[in-house]
Amino acid sequence: MSLMNELKQLQTEAAAALDKVASADELEAWRIRYLGTKGAVKAVMQRLKEVSGDQRAAAGKAANELKNALQAGFQAAQASLAGAEKSAVPAVDVTLPGAKPNIGHTHVITQTINEICDIFGRMGFDVAYGPEVEDEHHNFEALNIPPWHPARDPLDNFYINEAAMLRSQTSTVQIRVMESHDPPVRIIAPGRVYRPDAVDATHSFMFHQVEGLYVDENVTMADLKTCLNEFSTAYFGHEVSVRFRPSFFPFTEPSAEMDVLFEYANGSSKWMEMLGCGMVHPNVLTAVGYDAEKYTGYAFGMGVERLVMRKYNIPDIRLLYAGDVRFLHQF
Ligand code: DAH
Repeated sequence: MSLMNELKQLQTEAAAALDKVASADELEAWRIRYLGTKGAVKAVMQRLKEVSGDQRAAAGKAANELKNALQAGFQAAQASLAGAEKSAVPAVDVTLPGAKPNIGHTHVITQTINEICDIFGRMGFDVAYGPEVEDEHHNFEALNIPPWHPARDPLDNFYINEAAMLRSQTSTVQIRVMESHDPPVRIIAPGRVYRPDAVDATHSFMFHQVEGLYVDENVTMADLKTCLNEFSTAYFGHEVSVRFRPSFFPFTEPSAEMDVLFEYANGSSKWMEMLGCGMVHPNVLTAVGYDAEKYTGYAFGMGVERLVMRKYNIPDIRLLYAGDVRFLHQF
């Protein structure tokens, strides 16, 4: 085959190979094979001297044209590969609205505690906190609960050792506040309490209470009823009927339970127990060093979960602890 024919064949072959090139790596391999220092074009150039004198000029010209054509082909392929790469990167549409970050919020129990603190705050109550690990003095003795009382049964409490326990009620905070403050005191105390109850739709081994205490001269049961009436209306967002039923707590005398009347769309209604309350027992005032002849006071304790469940019609207390965001996002 003459060199001229070889040049033509090389051009056809190189052009076909370039057509198949699909990536930058393949293009580089193609360049090395045809245009590299040890490539096919170089090899054919070196053979120009074999061509006899009169044909050498024409063959040289043809070889140069081949080289230029392949270089042009290489550059075109390079440009089109770069363009393809660019269009593979998705364009950013700066006019689209931003992705909404998923921001959490406080748990409905925390929201409710805050709301209760706000309502009582408007009535002049300060917020007080006490430890969750308590001694028997604050959980029982100072609250007029004697050693033989069934509430002290080790099986009904989380004892940590002989002397320490997880508090079973926030009434402990009443004692701590009165021990460290002279009257008048007006506080509410939110917090967790613990009882070894079997877990079911209405019981949990841990739940939240808000305690209230007001001690001053001339505090009466009428003040207690007024305060809790106000609270009930503020918390449920409308006028609600409440009733006070006689009850018993060792740390109050007299004691009562407050029920709220729930009225349903179908016309029926039901009294539901909301909290315990009463006039602070003189033994409790005496235990913290107050003059029980001079001062009187009222106290109350409410379960936060119960208030939440009544307000939002939640049938199972476990929903409040399951951590399911589909439930929690509703509040
Ligand atoms: N400590 C009571 C309980 O856990 C609730 C309670 C009742 C608190 C009457 C009080 C009160 O302060 O006066 O069941």
